[in-house]
Amino acid sequence: MTIFVEKKKFMFRTHHCGELNAQHIGQHVTLSAWVQRSRNKGKMIWIDLRDRYGLTQLVFEEGVTSPEVFEQAQKVGREFVIQVQGMVIERVAKNPNMPTGDIEIKVEALKVLNKAILPPFTIEDQTDGGEEIRMKYRYLDLRRNTLKDKLILRHKLAQEVRRFLDEQGFLEIETPYLIKSTPEGARDFVVPSRMHEGQFYALPQSPQTFKQLLMVSGYDKYFQLVKCFRDEDLRADRQPEFTQIDCEMAFIEQEDILNTFEGLAKHLFKKVKGIEFNEPFSRMTYADAMRLYGSDKPDIRFGMQFVELKKLTDKKAFVVFNSAEYVGGICAKGCAGYTRKELDSLTDFVTKPQIGAKGLVYVKYNEDGTLKSTVDKFYDEADLKEWAVALNAQPGDLMLILAGSTAKTQSALNELRLEMGQRLGFRNPEIFAPLWVVDFPLLEWNEDAKRFHAMHHPFTSPKPEDIHMLSSEPGKVRANAYDMVINGVEIGGGSIRIHDSELQQLMFKLLGFTPEQAQSQFGFLIDAFRYGAPPHGGLALGFDRLVAMFAGIDSIREVIAFPKNNAGRDMMIDSPSPIDLAQLDELSLSVVKKG
Ligand code: AMO
Repeated sequence: MTIFVEKKKFMFRTHHCGELNAQHIGQHVTLSAWVQRSRNKGKMIWIDLRDRYGLTQLVFEEGVTSPEVFEQAQKVGREFVIQVQGMVIERVAKNPNMPTGDIEIKVEALKVLNKAILPPFTIEDQTDGGEEIRMKYRYLDLRRNTLKDKLILRHKLAQEVRRFLDEQGFLEIETPYLIKSTPEGARDFVVPSRMHEGQFYALPQSPQTFKQLLMVSGYDKYFQLVKCFRDEDLRADRQPEFTQIDCEMAFIEQEDILNTFEGLAKHLFKKVKGIEFNEPFSRMTYADAMRLYGSDKPDIRFGMQFVELKKLTDKKAFVVFNSAEYVGGICAKGCAGYTRKELDSLTDFVTKPQIGAKGLVYVKYNEDGTLKSTVDKFYDEADLKEWAVALNAQPGDLMLILAGSTAKTQSALNELRLEMGQRLGFRNPEIFAPLWVVDFPLLEWNEDAKRFHAMHHPFTSPKPEDIHMLSSEPGKVRANAYDMVINGVEIGGGSIRIHDSELQQLMFKLLGFTPEQAQSQFGFLIDAFRYGAPPHGGLALGFDRLVAMFAGIDSIREVIAFPKNNAGRDMMIDSPSPIDLAQLDELSLSVVKKG
């Protein structure tokens, strides 16, 4: 897909820097752009002129170019903005790697539109600038192809999202940013109100309640490319403000939502990446995802599924395994030849505090059929053979085993599996393995607060067949909730909503809200549901994550024009920053320094 740029006569330029080629030889053109670099060979000067569209080479020759222009050309520096007029000529030394590589411009007139001071890093694909300095001068970094290409990709994806959803009858409707807190589980960013002393707006963590209200209003297919704000700990795939493709539909069932948005994802892959998915996306229950991968967002580009070994390991007197709630292993194909050093590095990996395993047991299934483990004292070859059968290990393979409490051990084994997948080259960013994870639990026990939290959000509907357990065994109730996962990244999530005000009130009660609290926080929604709420549901896709995935990178910072750093700071505009006393006063606020 190319970006269509309407051809008009502009005052500053007749062409841009990416479009002139052999067909234009002999034409007089005017270009206005930035100086990428200049090479001065005494009698000859070449300047690469750069704009968003590409590079065009300018040439100045002593004795041929007028003396004034030649002198001007000697003076222009990197990143100067210049305008040139000249003739398109054939290049002597052609560059087949550049779209404009067959030609150059024999310059007849040059005007400096603006000088530039020396940039703090080179504006080249391979720059010498570290991340911090590039964040501070983001407007310069954005001149580089690496970022520019990602913003163009982002634009294309946004257009295709709109095209697809529009064709399906969705309406793009904006919802407010100054709202009351939405219960998505993260902290809100709050905005003090000047007109209402001591009162605050919250920035939306998502437009969740508004899109449900739009369903009550009859707009049965809604979407919005919308900013969301969450004050949470940041990671490569999390920003405090990020963009969702937020969607909601009425008179639908879960299956309709999955089909519609699988359709959207397939459309995007086809139009933007040229990849066709002819088969339906895989589906997996949350329970299976946890059992087989220890994660609710498994990377299914490769197998290496978990195998529970507890029944087999309990046969002998190895206390570590016998006292563990869970013993599980994975089989790394072809890794029996790992050296001591490589195995030690795996042990170091799983025992780092962030991963938290107590240790790693490994069994080498050597090529000659013998088995060697770190627990040879407790288990003989016959035992290890049994494990090998369970793990489907063959001679040449390496079995990696962790033990401990179920949740922690599965989580550590997930990290180890991903690490092994990486080492073995299974996590190729150009291969895409989409998956729906379905049947999430409705509630999640919070040990610190000693109460249930909504796993997705409080408006998520329980599965009808599980409703009878709501009061007796709430932890076992599954939800009509689903996530779209691609290559181990949670791209999106959503649910079928509760549309019955009584069930909604019961849900609030389970979540520990008193009727008064529920009324004060969500009264508008409970009330709205009394006026004829249709069955409805939806989902939101993380747009930044989607773009990063299409770009083959992990960090969403790279696909956002002006992102925050890992500490939530905008290094360029230096925000957050203190505000002056008069402003605080106007808002009836004072800052109390802690500690
Ligand atoms: P959820 O909270 O799962 O659902 O968010 C949907 C998707 O948004 C992306 N995402 C983020 N991306 C970047 N930075 C963040 N801090 C961040 N947090 C979330 C993820 C995630 O899958 N209202 C519900 C959706 C619904 O029920 O319809 C919601 O917001 O890709």
